[in-house]
Parts: sequence; structure tokens; C-alpha cells
Amino acid sequence: MHLVNHSMGLFDIHWQNAARKWLLAPWNTPVGQMLMLVAVLTHLVNAIWVLARRNMLGIAGWEWRQIVSGLLIPLMLVQHVLATDVLVDRFAVDHDYYSIQLIYWYLAPDKGLWQAVTLLLVWYHGCLGIHYWLRVNRWYQGQQSYWLGVAVFIPVLALAGFIASGRQLVRMLDETLIATIKAKANLTGDYFSAVENYTSYAWIVYAFILLLPLIVRGLNYFWLRQQTVGQLCLANGQNIRLFRNTSLLDTFRQHGIPHAAICGGRGRCTTCRVLITAGEAALAPPNAVEKQALDKISAPAHTRLACQLYPTGTISVQPLLSPDVRASASKRPGGLDGHEREVAILFLDLRDSTRLGEQRLPYDVLFILNQFFAEMTAALHETEGHYAQFAGDGLMALYGLTEEKHMRICRQALKGVALMQEKLKRLNGVLSSELLAPLSCGIGLHFGRVIVGTMGPPAAQIISAIGDDVNIAARLEQQSKVAGYPIIISSAFLSILEIDTHEWASYTMQLKGKTQEITFYGFYEIPESWLLGN
Ligand code: FES
Repeated sequence: MHLVNHSMGLFDIHWQNAARKWLLAPWNTPVGQMLMLVAVLTHLVNAIWVLARRNMLGIAGWEWRQIVSGLLIPLMLVQHVLATDVLVDRFAVDHDYYSIQLIYWYLAPDKGLWQAVTLLLVWYHGCLGIHYWLRVNRWYQGQQSYWLGVAVFIPVLALAGFIASGRQLVRMLDETLIATIKAKANLTGDYFSAVENYTSYAWIVYAFILLLPLIVRGLNYFWLRQQTVGQLCLANGQNIRLFRNTSLLDTFRQHGIPHAAICGGRGRCTTCRVLITAGEAALAPPNAVEKQALDKISAPAHTRLACQLYPTGTISVQPLLSPDVRASASKRPGGLDGHEREVAILFLDLRDSTRLGEQRLPYDVLFILNQFFAEMTAALHETEGHYAQFAGDGLMALYGLTEEKHMRICRQALKGVALMQEKLKRLNGVLSSELLAPLSCGIGLHFGRVIVGTMGPPAAQIISAIGDDVNIAARLEQQSKVAGYPIIISSAFLSILEIDTHEWASYTMQLKGKTQEITFYGFYEIPESWLLGN
């Protein structure tokens, strides 16, 4: 609000001043003042806590920027707060944009520059905090560049407004106007001296406050750190002493062991997760923050967050994510710690793609394929399917990564297939002039137990699945060419939906190296009655 108010100076200082009453009104109420005080104190206590407890070497670069900018803010802002809030009642000062701009642009221009830098610092600190708070969220990861634009646009406008209204006032100034503004705001020598003196006192007090973390660190070193609680045994055979009141993440950092921690140890990203392979009985159960984070990713048993875990005995652990993991890996269901899950597996293959390549220019083929996959993945998203693998002219998808009810999983998968067919029909209409023959595809659908986890090369990992049932689904899709149906569904899948299959001709196939036969059915389209219900 304050920055929006500043930006109005681009139009006119009179407008800027008139809007001030409305834009700052919420912050001048007792609730607004209380909120600001709580925010300031929370930030200060949090910063002192981090500096007192955390291992300095383990604090990431972005956290340092956040801490240092945060610690500088009280130092830079205190004079403005004293001058415009704390001391105004005592000296009966009544500020408005004219009096403030008179000080910053005429009486003490150095303070104007100081204030402009402070504005940028406060904004930078706020944006940094919000960015690192939100970056583990999927919706934000896709919109970061827009928000960066907003983050730059607002302070630039505010500074431009500050400069424009300051220059406007300077152009208007003469002895009479200066005297009028000073008299109206009651800007006296005593007031200015008090602001200077109290600013110096505040800086001294603040310096003592900043000493607190050092004192706490000293106490921590001489007392708490002396108490060894056990050993940390790593998979590479390394054994490390564990100290009381030291998180597992800090233990890693103190020993220079790289470990993923995208949210900086706030229990929000789950990238610091480890598997406890021994000694779990001696650990305290997860706290509320850890439990909530682990529940969100359906973490398998024996998984703990290194940043929230304060070992109280000897343990063996195995990190589950690579230390250079990205923010997008957080909150994923599964993760590298793959786990078994019952899902619907869909394989889709574009028919005659080789012929398409022979008939069209490579760029045309690329265009058509991209259109095709855009439509198919849109159908997946609209029906809660998860794209899990891409292979030239086909893809694999999973249904049920976040859903437990088997019937609903299969129903959604059927809806996905129906929607794919519908979208393909529409695409064929749009591309009719480009195609010698309509595009067609084969689909295999199966339900079974698979291992779900993050797979692929480090820079391009996706959640996918492996297991016999994945192979069965792939084979079913291949059967669609042999059986002459575009859709092949296994009996295992249809039995989940309790569909009576007597009226349909059944087929069987045998998997390589397996004795058991797989029964499946072929369809030209999904019967509408199967799509009803959840
Ligand atoms: S570092 Fe993010 S949850 Fe532990």
C-alpha cells in the first residue's frame, strides 16, 4: 500500500497526499499497528534464533542474503519510524507527503537517498522471503517469471513516484511555502534533534541485540555441544558423533556432507528426507510440522526429515534425494524413495508414425506430433492422469498416484481414454488438410501393483513406474495392432469396476518368462455407461 501511494507521485503530489489517508488507513488502526509490531518482532526473533542455532557453514547463500538484508532493515528504517511514528505525538508533529518530501528533497537530501535505498532493501527482503516460501509449490514454479516482473515493477514505480513528487515540490518551493509546510507539520529543531539522538540510541540497543546470538552460540558450544548422544552411521561406513539438540541436517552440514534442503530446514519441502535403516526406536516421533510434510508426500515407513529430526541415540541413515535436487522435486508423491502402489497404467501409441515421416517434411511431422501429444496430455490432466514416460510416438500414463480408491482410479482412466479419443477426433478435423489419413492410436489399459518413484537421468527425472504390470500394459497396447481394436483393456482392470464381461469376446496372451496368461478385451470406444459415477 505504501509503495502504491509513493507511485501516485508520478501523477501529482497533491493526489499522492490525498490518497495517503486511505491507503495507509489499515496500518494506522490498532490492529494494523499490532500486526506490524508482531511481524517485526517475529522476524527479529527468528533471525536471532537462526544465527544462534544454525551452523554458519551450512547456511545457504540465499539464506545469508535474507538474514543480512533482514538485519540491515531495522538499522536503516529506525530513523524513518522514529520520525514519522514514534516521536510524532511527543512533538505534536503532523506529517504528510509535503513535509516528508521537504525533508528528503530539501532539508536533508542524504536522508532521502538513505530512504530510497531502505525501500529497495525492505522490498528485496520481502520478495526473497516470499519467493523461497512459495518455490516448493507447483503453481508458483510455472509462474515465477511473471512474479519477478511484478517484483521489479512495483518498487520501480514507487521510486519513480517518490522522485517525481519530490522534484515537483522542489519546483514549487519558495520561502513562504517552506515556512508553511514546516509550520503545518510542526517541524521544530527539538524534533529533529530528538530524531537524531533516538536514532543513535536505537542503533546502540540494536547492536546489543545482535550480540545475543553470539552469547547463545557460546553457551551452546560450552554446554549443550559437550553432550554426545550417539553415533550417526552412514552407508559409506562413515561414523559421526551426534550432539544433543543438533538436527540431523545441521550434523550433515557441520561435517561438510552435502545434503538436499530446498526450504532451508523449515520442514516445508521434504527434500531433506532420509531413510532410517537402524536405531529408529530411540527417536522421538515426528513433530507436527514433520508429520504433515511426510503425510503430504505419502512417505513410506522409516522416512524422516533431516531438518526436523534431533537424534537422541545412535542411528543409521540413508539420504533419499541427491544433494543438488531442485525445488520441483519437493512434495512429489513418491520421489527417489520409490514405493509400491496400485495404479492404472495406460500405454498409448500413435499408429503409422513412420509412414507419416515418409510422407511429410520433418518440421511438419514435428508439428503434428507436438499437436497430438499436447492433446493427449491435456486429456490426462483433465482426468487426473499422470504423464509418466515418453517414447517417440507413444507415452505411458499412470492413474492413482494421489488416489486410493481403486474404482475411482479406473473410472478416471476410462474417462481419460474416452477424452483422448474425442480430442483425437477433433485434432483430425483441424489437421485434415495436413494429413493424408487421419491420425489413429492404440491404447492398452491395465491395473496392478507397481513401483512408483522418480526415475531418469538427474537433470530430467520424472515420476514413473516399473514392474510386471507395467510390462503387461505395454504388451496390451501392442496387442491392439494384432487384435484390430484401438483400445485393449485387461480383465484385471475391468474386474475393479465390476464390469460384466460375458458379452465381450476375450483374448489371452502370455508374457515372456511367465506361465500365467493375461486375459484382455478389445474395444472401439469406451461404452458411455462405464464413464458414469466416480
Ligand atoms: S529442508 Fe525442507 S523439509 Fe527439511
